[in-house]
Formats: sequence, structure tokens, C-alpha cells
Amino acid sequence: MNNRELFQSQGYLVLENFNTAEVCDSLIQQGELLANNFNFEGHPSVFQTTEQAKTTDDYFLNSGDKISFFFEKEAFDQQGKLKTDLFHSLNKIGHGLHDLDPIYSQFSRSPQMKSIAEELGLHDHVIIQSMHILKHAKIGGVVDVHQDASFLYTEPHSCIGFWFALEDATIQNGCLWAKPGGHQTTLRSWFRKKPNGGTEMHMLDDAAYSMEGMIPLEVKKGTCIILHGLLPHYSLPNTSGKSRQAYAIHTIDKNANYPAENWLQRNMNELKGFN
Ligand code: FE2
Repeated sequence: MNNRELFQSQGYLVLENFNTAEVCDSLIQQGELLANNFNFEGHPSVFQTTEQAKTTDDYFLNSGDKISFFFEKEAFDQQGKLKTDLFHSLNKIGHGLHDLDPIYSQFSRSPQMKSIAEELGLHDHVIIQSMHILKHAKIGGVVDVHQDASFLYTEPHSCIGFWFALEDATIQNGCLWAKPGGHQTTLRSWFRKKPNGGTEMHMLDDAAYSMEGMIPLEVKKGTCIILHGLLPHYSLPNTSGKSRQAYAIHTIDKNANYPAENWLQRNMNELKGFN
């Protein structure tokens, strides 16, 4: 089976040695640099007001074409103070890194990316979002089972994720879990904006995910995992003493319908593919 057939039957593809250790390290360093230059003052997570939910929502909704910082749920104590240093309190950085930062842009459009996109026939795919996921030792939280197409909904479905291990991912530090062939299912929900502000998880099919047959995708630093938008996947908390940093980009077909209700709104004409 070639990569395209394997991806179509399995719903994901694991490509080892996709990036060198040096290139992974350059992203790790850049993430730390961005975090250290980030002005924590005025961040919505810091305020404890009645407007909290709205400001947090707005910060998230406006992050599509920015470099924004998101905290771990457990980062703050009851007084609203960080339990540890700023960098180790962060959950992720997103969602416009691939367009705004030259190091992330280059990583997202490497020669091997162009070649695998070609192999998979993704000629009309554009990169719509990116995130640097930190999943720090001990504090890195769970990501519940979900389908990426819920968050980047198009008609027809076209979302494909590229997940890059910047460090070894193991069961202990919270690797991805998925089931081979699991993408042959319906889309369960659509995460979208409500008409009067805020967001909602709109149910499309209330069937529970089948968790049977889920396997851990333990991979080495430098591996790329390509995920079909309908493939249910999740990751467990990082209970180990080692972080599990990853970088992820999501792509959609620029010819698909992209509803105005989607949480992430970008000027579609500005979005670029792998070139
Ligand atoms: Fe995901």
C-alpha cells in the first residue's frame, strides 16, 4: 500500500524521521522565546471578574491570525496566581504561527511537506491554523476524544491535521491515541459561534465514540502523524517528568464551503498552502 492508500484506509499516517532533531529543537527554542517575550499583564486568564468568560472567549476567537497564549487548566491557584513559572504554565501557543513567524512558516512548508501533500493529492489544501502544544511534565492536561473536523468544519469535510513530535511521545507523557480505520464514521459535533456571542458544541450525531481498539501512537521526536479530520483521537495527561512538545497544523480544501459560524475566521484568499 502506498502512503495515500494507507492514509485512506487507516485514517492516519505515521511518518518517522520526517524532521531532524535540529529542526525540532529550533521550534522548541522559538516557542520558549515567544513565551518569554509574552506580556502576561492584561491576559484574560489573569482577571477574576464577571466578564471573565466573555474576555476569555474573545481572546480565543480572535487568536486565528495572532500569536496567542493559552494556559493549562491547573496553572492557577485559588488566589489566581500561577503555581509555577509562566512558560511551564502554558498549554499552547496559537493559532497563526505558520503565517506570522518565519521559523514556524518554514517548518510548515518544508520540502518534505510539499512532497507528502503532493503524494496525498492535497493540491488545493491551505493551512488554516497552527499550534505549538507544550504538554509540560506533570501539568500537561488531558485532551478529550474529538474529531478535528468539529473545529474546522467544511462542506464537504476536508480537514486534515499534521501533528509533529518535537520530542518523543510516550504513553507516560501523553501521546496521541486513535483507532486504525476509526475515521469511517460520522461527524459528531460542530463547534461554532452562537448568534448572540460565545460558542457552542452543536450536536450533529449523538452516538458515543467507540473507544474499543484505540491504540497509543508512541512516536520518536521528528515523527509526523497525519490525521484525517473525522478520526476520533485523544491524549491523556502527562504524568511523567518529561514534556511532550508537539507542533500541529490543520489544513482544509480551499474550494470547500467554510461557514461563517465557524469559530476560526480567516480571509480565505490570504491562506497559503505548502508553497
Ligand atoms: Fe485533535
